[in-house]
Amino acid sequence: MPVIRSALSEHVPTEGDRADDRLTTARDQLHPDSLTRSPRQGQADDRDVIVCEVGLRDGLQMFRTLFPTEEKLAWIRAEAAAGMPEIEVTSFVPPKLVPQFVDAGQVVQESLAIPGLTVVALIPNLKGAERALALGVHRLNYVLSVSRTHNLRNVRREREESIADVRRIVNLLRTVPPDRRPRIVGGLSSALGCGYEGAVPVDEVRRWAMAYAEAGVDEVMIADTVGYADPALVRRAFRAVMSDLGSMPVSAHFHDTRGLGLANVLAALDCGVRRFDASLAGLGGCQFVPRATGNIVMEDLCFMLEAMGMRTGVDLERLLAVRAIVARNLPDTPLYGALARAGLPHHYASIRASVSGQAG
Ligand code: COA
Ligand code: ZN
Repeated sequence: MPVIRSALSEHVPTEGDRADDRLTTARDQLHPDSLTRSPRQGQADDRDVIVCEVGLRDGLQMFRTLFPTEEKLAWIRAEAAAGMPEIEVTSFVPPKLVPQFVDAGQVVQESLAIPGLTVVALIPNLKGAERALALGVHRLNYVLSVSRTHNLRNVRREREESIADVRRIVNLLRTVPPDRRPRIVGGLSSALGCGYEGAVPVDEVRRWAMAYAEAGVDEVMIADTVGYADPALVRRAFRAVMSDLGSMPVSAHFHDTRGLGLANVLAALDCGVRRFDASLAGLGGCQFVPRATGNIVMEDLCFMLEAMGMRTGVDLERLLAVRAIVARNLPDTPLYGALARAGLPHHYASIRASVSGQAG
């Protein structure tokens, strides 16, 4: 059972912490699997923040045109070579429902052959967990929407049924020896706003985060699926949930639908969050806003973190080069990103060195 605390836990820093204070607490926030499972020897424990590429799942699930399997793998390999520690490579949903992921098995198998990469996949139910477990996926991102209406629309069941299912998944995973057991992450979709219901009370986020913890997940992820969040709401929601969950890691998944994505990241960093999803070129979108931008842009996220002296392990130049793979496969899709547009500052190396010097 996870340790549940009701008092404010010590790992929630106060507002206005300096970057070096954040660095001190960073490693405490990393889930053990990022340090042991991510066997990118000599690098994994140098990271202050773990970033996870989700463009291949959250981005591609919107596209009806199939992204060729070999091109998905080229993208995954190139990003892993740039130092990306984790990639959500696919989704174990029924292929009839989302044909884009008909190649889930092959994509996972070949991703698992990449040294040091933590292979992540989305699962909507027990059947998805069984498929992922059979292949050896490292981290399973389960989905439950805090908004009842969105949960009914997305996974066709009540939230209580989703929790009952995650309990079955936890029991299944406990039959696997600990050294080979995947991590199970309880995702809270539409947690900071819902396209159907509008505002989502923070108490509801706490309620379902606690239900996840009691069901035995390893980590909880709070997701702003429709991009309604602002930094003040992020602070309120993350503080409350992190205080309730005590030592259980809480990660963040933001969309940049209304341009507040990186501001929300900063607010979550201030709360002590050290795991963030993002997608290359901001691929992705929102079913309620046809022309909206997608997930926060991975390149810009890594640039912000690195500029602040928080090590991601990602080589920015090499990461930027991976955009060409997306561009050649989705020629009519806008690729977002301020870093790609402006380039690294001329004096970036010296700025980085001075920030690292202060932080170290
Ligand atoms: N993988 C493959 N097949 C699956 C599956 C899975 N994870 N889950 C269910 N199926 C199959 C069942 O075996 C059944 O097959 P059959 O018709 O040959 O017997 C069929 O799909 C229907 O199963 P059922 O349990 O009734 O599912 P459903 O139709 O109620 O759908 C979900 C429930 C959760 C599978 C579906 O709503 C879903 O995948 N939602 C996620 C949508 C998504 O990707 N959202 C974006 C990410 S958050
Ligand atoms: Zn998303």
